[in-house]
Amino acid sequence: MEHTDLAAQRPPGSELLAEQVDAAERDLLAAARPQRRAVGQASFDALIDGEHKVEPTDWMPEGYRAGLIRQIAQHAHSEVVGMQPERNWITRAPSLRRKAILLAKVQDEAGHGLYLYSAAETLGVSREWMLDALHEGRQRYLSFINYPTLTWADVGALAWLTDGAAVVNQVTLCRSSYGPYARAMVRVCREESFHHRQGFDALRVLAAGTPAQRAMAQDAVDRWWYPALAMFGPPHNRSTHSDRSMAWKIKRFSNDELRQRFVDICVPQAEVLGVRLPDPALRWNAERGHHDFTEPDWDELRRVVAGHGPCNRQRMDHRRRVHEDGAWVREAATAYAAKHHGGPQHSTAHQGAPAARQGLPA
Ligand code: COA
Repeated sequence: MEHTDLAAQRPPGSELLAEQVDAAERDLLAAARPQRRAVGQASFDALIDGEHKVEPTDWMPEGYRAGLIRQIAQHAHSEVVGMQPERNWITRAPSLRRKAILLAKVQDEAGHGLYLYSAAETLGVSREWMLDALHEGRQRYLSFINYPTLTWADVGALAWLTDGAAVVNQVTLCRSSYGPYARAMVRVCREESFHHRQGFDALRVLAAGTPAQRAMAQDAVDRWWYPALAMFGPPHNRSTHSDRSMAWKIKRFSNDELRQRFVDICVPQAEVLGVRLPDPALRWNAERGHHDFTEPDWDELRRVVAGHGPCNRQRMDHRRRVHEDGAWVREAATAYAAKHHGGPQHSTAHQGAPAARQGLPA
């Protein structure tokens, strides 16, 4: 069908994001300090104020620990549950090349989930505890995952828009104050930029194709634009956690700032693709130096997060089923580790720290 050089099809603006990841990695290396434990509020404050990274052995306020567990677990769950909308298309990809790319991308997402679960485990919770919380509805995953992928063009639009939004958000998380989270983000961003680029390329081929292919590409963009904008979370004045998270430098920017950055990046990319972003109010505002745009429907976000999106039930039923089906793999890995390392080792399931230490309800 097509054979393009992905490197030559770099979406405008993506180099800048890649440079920001490189700069964040250089700063992370420079900020590495000899293992000296910070003890108490004053030393924690000094780490935050001095732009050092908080490490697992450092003292930290329980709210900081609980907030990180909440956000990192939600992030990990999003990577893992987020494989489902794309998995559908692995067997239906239009060429072997597209199939191989999609397969690699979906595998990467599983890997991102594992880096993130590992980062959260450094805070004293077990992976088992986080997965139980997901399956019992006590922890969340991002809302866009609850929308269906109806055509092949959805695979392109999903990656261009939602992986694009993920990169914009995650590039800033490379500078998160918690060391294990920031370091996981550097690696995730490098892989995620490939995901974004392959989506842009898949959509570009369709948008330059037959009238039916062009209509399919436009229809997918029309359906994915607002779920992608909603990924950045509610507006600042309705965000529960932003002020606290920003004071602790877990988050560096408000949900609105990142959403604006994403819109500004997408407009020139949509022009290159030849697709229309489905917002009649979208226009350049010279005074602000940004594009004006229509915000997502926040009531819809609330409904989808509360479990009433088109695919919530399907996503969670599938997640619980594959978890049960995989129990024998976890048991076998645990038994193998115990046999070869001379004791009861844990592969994926560590003991959770006591609830009091986690700063979480028992
Ligand atoms: N989908 C589902 N839930 C969402 C959401 C979305 N798009 N946006 C916000 N929420 C939830 C938050 O998780 C929070 O719920 P909780 O209190 O039950 O945890 C609530 O809405 C209020 O949001 P806010 O106070 O703004 O939360 P926040 O400061 O954690 O910011 C994110 C929300 C999503 C921006 C932030 O958590 C984040 O950056 N997460 C990592 C990004 C990620 O998961 N990327 C994966 C890409 S596949």
